[in-house]
Amino acid sequence: MKIEKINVNKNRFMDLLLLGDEQEDMVNKYLNRGELFALYDNGLKTVSVVTKKDKEVYEIKNIATYEKDQGKGYGSFMIRYIIGHYKNKCNLLLVGTGDNDKILTFYKNCGFEYSHTVEDFFIKNYDHKIFEDGKQLKDMAYLKMTFDNIQTKHL
Ligand SMILES: CC(C)(COP(=O)(O)OP(=O)(O)OC[C@H]1O[C@@H](n2cnc3c(N)ncnc32)[C@H](O)[C@@H]1OP(=O)(O)O)[C@@H](O)C(=O)NCCC(=O)NCCS
Repeated sequence: MKIEKINVNKNRFMDLLLLGDEQEDMVNKYLNRGELFALYDNGLKTVSVVTKKDKEVYEIKNIATYEKDQGKGYGSFMIRYIIGHYKNKCNLLLVGTGDNDKILTFYKNCGFEYSHTVEDFFIKNYDHKIFEDGKQLKDMAYLKMTFDNIQTKHL
């Protein structure tokens, strides 16, 4: 298993990115400025995009594993890799998600805790209604992970 940082032709991962964020113009808002990681294990399994939100803050904007490969540990492996990659670069790592118990549990099991909610995010920012497990998504729930690194101590 290996994870590569992708710097060129990021659009070739669009099929998988659309699994994590189903509207292409929304993906395009962060894909080029973001850092894209691809996990391979006998072929592509998982992708994730992380953007810099502020001087000390990064945000996981997208993570997706092909449906047939979900539940095999690839997503958690990617999150652990991202935590390792960013823990010395920032003091806060955020991830926003719809109000879906499965996904919230996934992030909490990876060590994230609830941060805050952006009301009506999915209604205001998408051109169609988004459903997950039969439930319309409305608010964006943000989870966070804080790092106690040198930069933090200088703030
Ligand atoms: C969320 C996601 C990236 C997790 O990736 P993954 O490769 O399946 O992750 P893992 O195999 O490490 O599974 C992590 C946990 O989630 C659970 N899980 C993963 N996929 C699941 C699924 N489709 N249904 C139910 N549970 C699932 C696993 O059981 C596992 O729990 P455990 O550690 O207690 O066994 C993946 O489900 C996905 O691509 N979902 C669609 C896109 C999406 O919603 N992205 C997040 C947007 S915020």
